[in-house]
Amino acid sequence: GASSDKLRHVESMSELPSGAGRISGINAVVLGESLAAEEHDLVYPSAEFSADALVPSPKKYQKMYERSINDPAGFWSEIADAFYWKEKWNPSEVCSENLDVTKGPVQISWFKGGKTNICYNAVDRNIEAGNGDKIAMYWEGNEPGQDGKLTYSDLLDRVCQLANYLKSVGVGKGDAVIIYLPMLLELPIAMLACARIGAVHSVVFAGFSADSLAQRIVDCKPKLVITCNAVKRGVKPILLKDIVDAGLAESEKQGVAVGLCLTYENQSAMKREDTKWQAGRDVWWQDVVTSFPTKCDVEWVDAEDPLFLLYTSGSTGKPKGVLHTTGGYMVYSATTFKYAFDYKPSDIYWCTADCGWITGHSYVTYGPLLNGATVLVFEGTPNYPDSGRCWDIVDKYKVTIFYTAPTLVRSLMRDGTEYVTRHSRKSLRVLGSVGEPINPSAWRWFYNIVGDSRCPISDTWWQTETGGFMITPLPGAWPQKPGSATFPFFGVQPVIVDEKGKEIEGECSGYLCIKKSWPGAFRTLYGDHDRYETTYFKPFAGYYFTGDGCSRDKDGYHWLTGRVDDVINVSGHRIGTAEVESALVSHPKCAEAAVVAVEHEVKGQGIYAFVTLVDGVPYSEELRKSLILTVRNQIGAFAAPDKIHWAPGLPKTRSGKIMRRILRKIASKQLDELGDTSTLADPGVVDQLIALKDC
Ligand code: WT7
Repeated sequence: GASSDKLRHVESMSELPSGAGRISGINAVVLGESLAAEEHDLVYPSAEFSADALVPSPKKYQKMYERSINDPAGFWSEIADAFYWKEKWNPSEVCSENLDVTKGPVQISWFKGGKTNICYNAVDRNIEAGNGDKIAMYWEGNEPGQDGKLTYSDLLDRVCQLANYLKSVGVGKGDAVIIYLPMLLELPIAMLACARIGAVHSVVFAGFSADSLAQRIVDCKPKLVITCNAVKRGVKPILLKDIVDAGLAESEKQGVAVGLCLTYENQSAMKREDTKWQAGRDVWWQDVVTSFPTKCDVEWVDAEDPLFLLYTSGSTGKPKGVLHTTGGYMVYSATTFKYAFDYKPSDIYWCTADCGWITGHSYVTYGPLLNGATVLVFEGTPNYPDSGRCWDIVDKYKVTIFYTAPTLVRSLMRDGTEYVTRHSRKSLRVLGSVGEPINPSAWRWFYNIVGDSRCPISDTWWQTETGGFMITPLPGAWPQKPGSATFPFFGVQPVIVDEKGKEIEGECSGYLCIKKSWPGAFRTLYGDHDRYETTYFKPFAGYYFTGDGCSRDKDGYHWLTGRVDDVINVSGHRIGTAEVESALVSHPKCAEAAVVAVEHEVKGQGIYAFVTLVDGVPYSEELRKSLILTVRNQIGAFAAPDKIHWAPGLPKTRSGKIMRRILRKIASKQLDELGDTSTLADPGVVDQLIALKDC
């Protein structure tokens, strides 16, 4: 009968990677429901773990959570008091907000009137508390045996030298600085140096192409770009300076010339003699920065002064400049770090994310340092020299908290458990996951094999826009359900709404929105407040719309089911279908392109592109490669389509709208589920597409 059919469906879902059920549209919501129905097993933290935990029980969580909702001003003020403020915020304006577009412009502010500096709080304050000799950062290079470390005092010296240099070249409060660096200690140092002088950093992940870099330069018009000459990823050298050169040339063509490129000489990857150089514009970091004094006064900024811009993908071709401000972000990144990882001063913390993404902002740099933690920064890749590298590093530094992405878990899982079990991993006590829903089988492998069934997993759901964790386990408090991000963090009110924007209660599935603001919320999209309102606040009036589908089970656990908009999540990286399409159609032989997500065993989702060629151009392997290269060049290697499907035509409605629903079914080979194709302008297109699947 119907119910056993449903069960069969549910069983088959459980073996699929998390890509399943995360296909755009209402499907994601429906599939999410079945995932939730399937998972009821609870995994409890050990009694010893809970006894020592900051939040040891659901009851304690409940109490703190209720306070945070009933008295947000009181709750967050008490926490903010632990930081240093040059001037205290106005007590009547801890939070002021309007999230309802129908009532006026959307605006959010926290700690108005307060003056502080996040670099001071992340570095100087720890030294003043007597932790100057504590290791702030360990660095592990691409090659095993290549390493380094900085105490908090060392870190301050390095940050101040760079801050002084930046001031000497005219960078001041409010100026933008683009940072295009790999995971060298110079990357967090550069972020902190900008923050120290009130400059606004915009880190561009060093896997983005020259064109993407140029696009960001044109948008935020930085005073300078900070980069390095090259980096090695495994055995492969990547000539970053060449990419920056091309990016600077391209942005200049588009009318934004940047006169200064501060270049770190990354000697282990490339000597300076071999680096292409533009005299007058390019300056070696080692030649100028190190001669500046190691003391630099702090620029006290308003709580609502911008701290950084981070570009992220949306549903149009143009990336969005997500803007975070200082005070609220500081309090929120620090507090979420502390509770979600049950942070203890003796912890050695490692987050595998790159500082080019939000995870590296909030949980490599700011959150941990604001807590005075010891952070490991890793330059290399997890499978070089072999798939045991992570556990090698865990044992070498006695890592206690290990925070990574499901894609990494799945790829190591595929390589076999012996890479893990030949290492001790005894030091580990908390694990973390971020970037996409973690499928239950990857969760179990992470828990049982990596963590020896001993370490709780914090599956942290959040976004570039949210600044910090939104829905996350507190490891000592709750029994976990593999694959569920569990419950909201303090101060966060998630709601699930239906198509019409009506809140649904109890066990349900729908669109995930957030009611009320939280301190880490982004304040605008740089230069485009209209797009901010349209994208996030207009879909469901009165709420922040996350773009994700979510279901809530009978116990109140939250199950994220993935994006419901035109954003694809590849290995935890957000890529807009429109960006890939616009890259493809820029190819002279491509007439039209439509991109959809497909399930991918390791990456979670893969990119599947339907391409219509210009009349008369034949399909060829060479052309396929050249189309993929175009995407790599325009966005970056991580956005390269996994599959090009030649399309004589695309399924469109009579008004010309591409029916992606049908394309998704063709891409995932669910040909018996194509649904109604009679509304297509030319229903014959579908058969042609299916016939061409093996080209
Ligand atoms: C999107 C945000 C925020 C850190 C890295 C990605 C997905 C992120 C989870 C999780 C389910 C997750 C969502 C979200 N996502 N973490 N734990 N469970 N989904 O940041 O690039 O801004 O992407 O990543 O779809 O909307 P981002």
